[in-house]
Amino acid sequence: MIRVANLHKSFRGQKVLKGVNIEFARGKITTIVGTSGCGKTVLLKHLNALLLPDKGEIFIDSVDISKLRQKELYQIRAKFGVLFQGAALLDSMSVFENVGFPLREKTKMKESNIKKKVADRLEQVGLGEMGHKLPAELSGGMRKRAGLARALIMDPEIVLFDEPTTGLDPVLATSIHQLIARTQEAFGFTGIIVSHTIPQVFEISDYVAMLANGVVEELTPPEVFCSSQNPIVQQFIHGKTEGPIQVL
Ligand SMILES: Nc1ncnc2c1ncn2[C@@H]1O[C@H](COP(=O)(O)OP(=O)(O)O)[C@@H](O)[C@H]1O
Ligand SMILES: [Mg+2]
Repeated sequence: MIRVANLHKSFRGQKVLKGVNIEFARGKITTIVGTSGCGKTVLLKHLNALLLPDKGEIFIDSVDISKLRQKELYQIRAKFGVLFQGAALLDSMSVFENVGFPLREKTKMKESNIKKKVADRLEQVGLGEMGHKLPAELSGGMRKRAGLARALIMDPEIVLFDEPTTGLDPVLATSIHQLIARTQEAFGFTGIIVSHTIPQVFEISDYVAMLANGVVEELTPPEVFCSSQNPIVQQFIHGKTEGPIQVL
């Protein structure tokens, strides 16, 4: 479904990605872990072509998206839902309007159908009664839920989650994880999560990928990850400052 081959990316001479190779399995959840600043967000942004590679390829359903024109890129991006850190809701719009926004902007759907679909999605994330509120009137957890409802509104095949639980307490983090797992089961999307909430996030992950020193060092099911003898994985899990990971 998604295959990254030999991806290189530098910023002003700083090499961030140095030959990333990874495949994301269709209909599964893969969690990317790694130290802060190691390039996880940069990797995610290549998947929906917000960034373009210096070298290497990104295949989505066997199409190399790094070679596409602008119009074709829009079609590729339409396959994606994204939930980035701040949930990025528009302050001046109600939750209902926020969630319906992509439908109004990008489709010719009738208003009555938009209303129905938004109500459905809000129900699915447990915000059935909250549509009339402004984002500022919601708790942090509710804002994440609203962000998720909006990420799912276009029925995406792939959903990117960049640190969906950072800044939430452990109970709230678990409830967001459960919500991701539940919606993934309901909609069947391919989920890619960047997270520091370990080991909790492993419970909903089919695979864990470790990004370090500009490459994917390990891609395994979570059980195997935790007992991996790879010194890089060991250093990361135990939070050691000494070891093979070059901290940027
Ligand atoms: N648009 C950009 N311009 C310049 N440097 C960037 C840009 N995006 C990311 N970087 C740099 O790339 C490195 C990796 O960033 P990032 O992927 O955000 O890390 P993280 O793994 O914490 O998500 C950082 O050193 C960051 O400063
Ligand atoms: Mg990041």
